[in-house]
Amino acid sequence: MSAEPDLDALFAAALAAQQKAYAPYSRFKVGAAILADDGKVYPGCNVENAAYPVGACAEAGAISAMIAGGAGAIRAIVVIGDGAELVTPCGACRQRIREFAAPETPILIAGPDGIRARFSLAELLPASFGPANLPK
Ligand code: THU
Repeated sequence: MSAEPDLDALFAAALAAQQKAYAPYSRFKVGAAILADDGKVYPGCNVENAAYPVGACAEAGAISAMIAGGAGAIRAIVVIGDGAELVTPCGACRQRIREFAAPETPILIAGPDGIRARFSLAELLPASFGPANLPK
């Protein structure tokens, strides 16, 4: 696998997932796409629910797809949402990503126009709690 991920392919997958999002309540569609350690791309979208707190974020869906697909680590993730603001992962999703990523793993934030910002996981979730904190 190359050191630099194919960001065009990852952006396209996130955009396609965003268009399929089920967000009738917030009307805020989010897409995500993970480049995993097996070289494959795993998309996800937000899936809301009439019982509002039961809704799921796009990043959670992409992580589920990655694990169900047999991959084990996130090499890069693109998150896309509309509007002028950067759609960075919510706090819970930062922790979800952290389980399967390294501190330097890139988290790329996109809008309809393309990738707008690049963070490392450590920038978005410093001094984080992870598997190594738990006793063996
Ligand atoms: N949402 C995501 O899917 N990912 C994020 O990183 C931020 C928020 C979703 C949750 C909800 O369906 C909608 O966006 C509005 O909060």
